[in-house]
Amino acid sequence: MLWGGVALFIDSSDPKEIKDLFAWGVLCGVTTNPLIISKESPDADLAEVIREILAVSTGDVSVELTTEKESEMLEESASYHAWDTDRITIKVPFSETGLRVNYALRKKGIKTNMTCLMSMNQAYLAALSGATYVSIFSGRVRDMGYDVRPIIENTRNVLDREKLDSKIIVGSMRHLMDVNEALECGAHVPTVTPPILRKMVWNPRTIETINEFNTAWRNRPTKSKK
Ligand code: E4P
Repeated sequence: MLWGGVALFIDSSDPKEIKDLFAWGVLCGVTTNPLIISKESPDADLAEVIREILAVSTGDVSVELTTEKESEMLEESASYHAWDTDRITIKVPFSETGLRVNYALRKKGIKTNMTCLMSMNQAYLAALSGATYVSIFSGRVRDMGYDVRPIIENTRNVLDREKLDSKIIVGSMRHLMDVNEALECGAHVPTVTPPILRKMVWNPRTIETINEFNTAWRNRPTKSKK
């Protein structure tokens, strides 16, 4: 990706898909989670999958912790961090323990992504404890019957007002409209699944217009036809 402003990440653990989509030049990071990896590569070795992802992508690659005790989470973080000390971003599930782990990692200069956030107050705490990214889960908030737009907007306002450095990732996208709304509400980084990214390209009127132009070009009156 050449652009340095608002970013777009891919929410996937499929190296082939990630490689294809990075070739568009629109992506600058990858988010994964244990559910995505269990579905997409159930038998694979985590270290191998992440190394493959690192090889076919650029930017930060979020890898989520699966342990729940502070000491184990810190140990797990250290082993992930060693895979690429610059690009691996430790995805820390939000909780009291999560905040302690996040703060400890940030003090060591390790990038973090505090995840599973459903509210502005959670995102605010995550940002205060120094998270590099705070991940708000659009679809899961809506599943509970709440509007995610004010959560994203209020989070962005408070981060800007307090001059907190965390970037807002909005994930758990179910529809194309969720991406548009996340951007309009001030998300720094929507993270989208490959099917949603492909939907962002597709528009029937675009296809029709290109066909119209190319058909006209193919059928233009040439000198030999006159
Ligand atoms: C984001 O980082 C998460 O991996 C993801 O978007 C969660 O989405 P889900 O609600 O579809 O599990």
